[in-house]
Amino acid sequence: MQASRRSFLRTAAAGAALPVFGPRVLDALERRLEPFDQLSPAGAAADESFWSEIRKVFPRPADYINLENGYSSPQPGPTYEAFQRHQQVINSGLSFYMRRKKADDLTAVKKQLAELAGCPADEIVITRNTTESLGTVIHGLDLAPKDEAVMCDQDYGSMLEQFRQQSRRRGLTCVEISIPLHPRDDEEMVETYAKAITSRTKVLLVSHMVNITGQILPVRKIAAMAHARGVAVIVDAAHSFAHVAFFVPELDGDYLGASLHKWLCTPLGAGLLHIKKDKIRTVWPLFGETSVPDDDIRKLERIGTHPSWTILAIADAIRFHKMIGPERKEARLRYLQQYWTDRVRGVAKVYLNTPTGTRACGIANVGIAGRTPGQMAAALFDTFKIYTVAIDTVPVKGVRVTPHLYTTTGELDALVKAIGDLARS
Ligand SMILES: Cc1ncc(COP(=O)(O)O)c(C=O)c1O
Repeated sequence: MQASRRSFLRTAAAGAALPVFGPRVLDALERRLEPFDQLSPAGAAADESFWSEIRKVFPRPADYINLENGYSSPQPGPTYEAFQRHQQVINSGLSFYMRRKKADDLTAVKKQLAELAGCPADEIVITRNTTESLGTVIHGLDLAPKDEAVMCDQDYGSMLEQFRQQSRRRGLTCVEISIPLHPRDDEEMVETYAKAITSRTKVLLVSHMVNITGQILPVRKIAAMAHARGVAVIVDAAHSFAHVAFFVPELDGDYLGASLHKWLCTPLGAGLLHIKKDKIRTVWPLFGETSVPDDDIRKLERIGTHPSWTILAIADAIRFHKMIGPERKEARLRYLQQYWTDRVRGVAKVYLNTPTGTRACGIANVGIAGRTPGQMAAALFDTFKIYTVAIDTVPVKGVRVTPHLYTTTGELDALVKAIGDLARS
């Protein structure tokens, strides 16, 4: 461990307003990671000894291989330990905490989250999840009957449903396009969105990482195209945040939502909403707030009583994430995905619904001709004790496979063998 990082953690532990990692788990992990301090992302990707240390602090099921980490992530030991401690401390003086300390702690956590996201703290809100983040925007925008919103058939169901409800309620038209599974280049994807825009289009929803295939979309280029036509851009970064290393402003969306309980590995019920400063006034608060100016993002924070310990644990999750290193994490997740997809590509009857190279990271989707996704997921679990999820939609049919930082190549070898056996049988 570099001296600066070690001393930062000690200082944080000694004087921070926010509790930090529990001493036992964190100290032990820190010591074990010291020899890997200089490990580059490329070097780390395939360094099993580094990841075996990380594996030690993740809880895992004993009786099956979990390759369905896309729903949500388990908290690593240090975060879980801190989370429990936050509960204990707050619970022992609940009202006092809520009245005297909660606001300062929220400000401190927002500062850390904003730093991780690469944006000012007065442009973010901590929410419960992406559904809430983007719902706040979808329902808070002044959308009128003649307006159109563009989205795609691989966007997440909850966002599509929220737009459909707006359509019923306000008469807005939802324009749902299909996007290619294996785009030739970024321009093909940008063009696919551009073709759907008319003079009535007000807003465009785009997923940074498609949840059912893992495809990463060229959001910045899509946003540039949309902005040039006067269209606002909502980015669904549920799966990309803290999975691939990026700063929110780089995508140039006007509104962005992310789920922190996915790849930042916080406790369940933590999300991020980012709104560009000059767009804050375009969103009405769902719960009412007139005590702050219209361009003050805190107008979206009147959400009632909620579990403060989850918010505190975001800070602990950020520290764990930084200890691994965002770039090393991205490199490892992509390495694991490519490890198994490279070995099944070309096997008779097997097809991949996920593009190659940097158009994907940890998530991929695979199908076997002649088997439904449900049959394939069931066989993987029942016969091989490998847990995945069936994706049976019009554009995508296959099982989604999502390894995690604790996944070993040995577990992926078992997956490769299982897919081969199923394709042959
Ligand atoms: C792309 C995408 N958007 C949004 C969501 C919703 O996330 P949450 O349930 O945390 O709101 C998910 C969940 O898997 C997702 O994959």
